[in-house]
Order: sequence, then structure tokens, then C-alpha cells
Amino acid sequence: MIELKLSELNENKAIKVDLDGTDICVVRQGSEVFAIADLCSHAEASLSEGDVTMGRIECWLHGAEFDLRTGEAVTPPASAPVETYPVSIEGDTVRVG
Ligand code: FES
Repeated sequence: MIELKLSELNENKAIKVDLDGTDICVVRQGSEVFAIADLCSHAEASLSEGDVTMGRIECWLHGAEFDLRTGEAVTPPASAPVETYPVSIEGDTVRVG
């Protein structure tokens, strides 16, 4: 598990964090925080470098979009989902994993 500060997460700006040796993409949208695998399911691209819009993150390399809540690949060329990770928020503390 990793702890982050909600107040230090910028709205709609993904960050990459290390969770026990695995890269995780963390995104804040309003009062919610989402955590998905950072590695795109299409090829070797870091999702945290992509743009976030309306509950989705877009892979910067070929444009596939993933649902931040479910990890589902919503648009091609990716078709496989990415893993999602549990997030809990308590005050200003965000726990991922
Ligand atoms: Fe992400 Fe191709 S590497 S869409």
C-alpha cells in the first residue's frame, strides 16, 4: 500500500507511483481518486503521461482510452483492460493498493 496526500494531487493530472515495484497511474477527479496500471495494454507506453477527460485517460502513444473506474479499454487500438487498484480516502490521506 502507498499513501498520498489528496491536497497534493492535481485535478485531472495523472501521476505515476510505485506500488511494491509496480508502476501505478493515479488520477484525481473531484473528490474521487482512481488507480490503474500505468502500462498501456496495447504496447509499452506509460498511461500517466496521457490526458485525462471525463473519467477516462488517453494513451499518448496511439490514443486508446481507458475507463479510470473499471480499467476497461474504451477505444481502440487497445482492447484488453488494465488492472485497477483499490483506493480509500480518509481526510487528506489517500491509500492506494
Ligand atoms: Fe497505448 Fe498503443 S501503446 S494505445
